[in-house]
Amino acid sequence: MDKNIEIDQSMVDYIFAHSNNLHPIQKKIIKYNESLGYVKKLQISVLQANFIQFLIQQKKFKNCLEIGTFTGYSALSIALSLPSNGKLYAIDKDKKNTDVALNFFKQAKVNRKINVEVNNALVALKNLKKKKKKFDLILIDADKENYINYFNQSLSLINKDGIILIDNILWKGEVANPSSKDKITMKIKEFNNYIKNKNINKYILPIGDGFFVCWK
Ligand SMILES: C[S@@+](CC[C@H](N)C(=O)[O-])C[C@H]1O[C@@H](n2cnc3c(N)ncnc32)[C@H](O)[C@@H]1O
Repeated sequence: MDKNIEIDQSMVDYIFAHSNNLHPIQKKIIKYNESLGYVKKLQISVLQANFIQFLIQQKKFKNCLEIGTFTGYSALSIALSLPSNGKLYAIDKDKKNTDVALNFFKQAKVNRKINVEVNNALVALKNLKKKKKKFDLILIDADKENYINYFNQSLSLINKDGIILIDNILWKGEVANPSSKDKITMKIKEFNNYIKNKNINKYILPIGDGFFVCWK
């Protein structure tokens, strides 16, 4: 049996109390998302965002791509850790939430670092490929039905030393429950098996709802 501690809320509080403080606008987005009720769960976890920030700063990444922006928590976290000449390309099909996110980016004064496209992600990704764009980090966090498509598109958009992160791949633990047969669990299991058999470096990081960390 591998040795891992349980991360309950008191442990999360302890981790926050001993880590870098959140930016005031990160706190504001969390509060806003909490006011939305059930859909607040769409946001990546704070621990996941902290990990992304660590990666960007340590690897000195400059160009990032996000598929699924929602109200902007992950995008803001990425932009805050990018250098002043860094850029995030953020895609989401939902205009209303994207406008909310844009407002938060302005408040945090990182709006110039973020290029937002309101579009179906598959269309947006094809256009980026046509333009021969390349990214150091790609975060996939949109509709699970298209995860395999997003991943395959990302393979041609990622730089040689880049990292692709895919969220929700443990799906609240359901992927390891053989009796869970709902549509999304089955889609995520299909995706995870696809990655398992792909000739790429991979590692599952069990924070938030689970990140697949992939690199060439
Ligand atoms: C889980 S949320 C993203 C959360 C965000 N990364 C954060 O941390 O706050 C998923 C987002 O993907 C968007 N989405 C779903 N299907 C999409 C599609 N086909 N093309 C573009 N965006 C899509 C939704 O509108 C939603 O905002």
